Amino acid sequence: MKLLVTGGAGYIGSIVTRMLLDAGHQVVVLDDLRTGYEVALAPDAQFVNAPVHEVSRVVTADAAFDGVLHFAALIAAGESMVRPEIYWRNNTIGSLALLDAVRAAGVPRLVFSSTAAVYGNPTELPIPETAVKSPTNPYGASKLAVDMALTSEAGAHGLAAVSLRYFNVAGAYLRDGVALGERHDPETHLIPIALEVAAGRREKLQIFGDDYPTEDGTCVRDYIHVEDLARAHLLALEAAQPGEHLIFNVGNGSGFSNRQVAEVVREVTGHPLPVEVAPRREGDPAELVASSARARATLGWIPAKPTLHDMVSDAWAFYRTHILEQQ
Ligand code: UFG
Repeated sequence: MKLLVTGGAGYIGSIVTRMLLDAGHQVVVLDDLRTGYEVALAPDAQFVNAPVHEVSRVVTADAAFDGVLHFAALIAAGESMVRPEIYWRNNTIGSLALLDAVRAAGVPRLVFSSTAAVYGNPTELPIPETAVKSPTNPYGASKLAVDMALTSEAGAHGLAAVSLRYFNVAGAYLRDGVALGERHDPETHLIPIALEVAAGRREKLQIFGDDYPTEDGTCVRDYIHVEDLARAHLLALEAAQPGEHLIFNVGNGSGFSNRQVAEVVREVTGHPLPVEVAPRREGDPAELVASSARARATLGWIPAKPTLHDMVSDAWAFYRTHILEQQ
């Protein structure tokens, strides 16, 4: 297939691009490198340096794309509490611009990076796709709006749409001399920050809140290896059906508290990890754990690296060889 990947210079988008190319697809990457990295661009993909708002320059009837995978977005729940407007503009309005272009050009299928943050504080655990959607932050709301737009787009205009609701993504892609992993500037995510502390680049890990209604009082998240998540995108492309909007949670179904994550980082790195409890971060739901039964049954998706230990080991290998050594 000829595919457009928006956000293909980012953490997940670059890994999916690599796997799509390896599977024989032709890929055009659209990214404005605002949060993406040039080094993460696949040399065998065509690259267009532009924001998603300008996607109609690329998605034309003549270009004859068979599908779009839409990653380009802002992703930090905490930041979205203080700068909500950039989340609505980039994530929601940007996606609507993409949908206009896809409709005008007659692109038949689209896979969207949705998020566990659409659920907010869940009313049932593990969370099925049918659970109440009540985001606790504008990030989750900005993505939920797009999920809803996709449902109506499929119904009214026949798009074959798939939303993958990611839980907490970790790990790296390290094979055949290719190394793609997580790097954000500034970093806000728990595992990469903990690795920076383990490497002695940061004094301590602040754990945001220890008075949540969870076993040890810290927030609980469901971690998924980025390679497993990436594979779900290839399966989603195949499963997409005209006029339908399929929605899948993508997680492993086991929760790790922030304190448990810190412990796994200690084990994997063999370094001390000083931790300090800090106030809660606004907008954080207490616990997000997926039921991925639907993805397993419908897509035949089976995670190959379900342990947090594997994810942290790969993230640590990438951090040491591609971030630390290059600083
Ligand atoms: N945390 C800390 N200290 C830090 C950083 C994070 O305690 O220095 C805590 C957070 O408060 C939260 C947990 O670690 O309780 C995980 O936070 P992250 O920022 O790593 O990830 P989030 O769960 O906020 O969000 C991530 C992605 C979203 C995605 C979501 C799905 O950033 O894009 O997972 O669950 F939607």
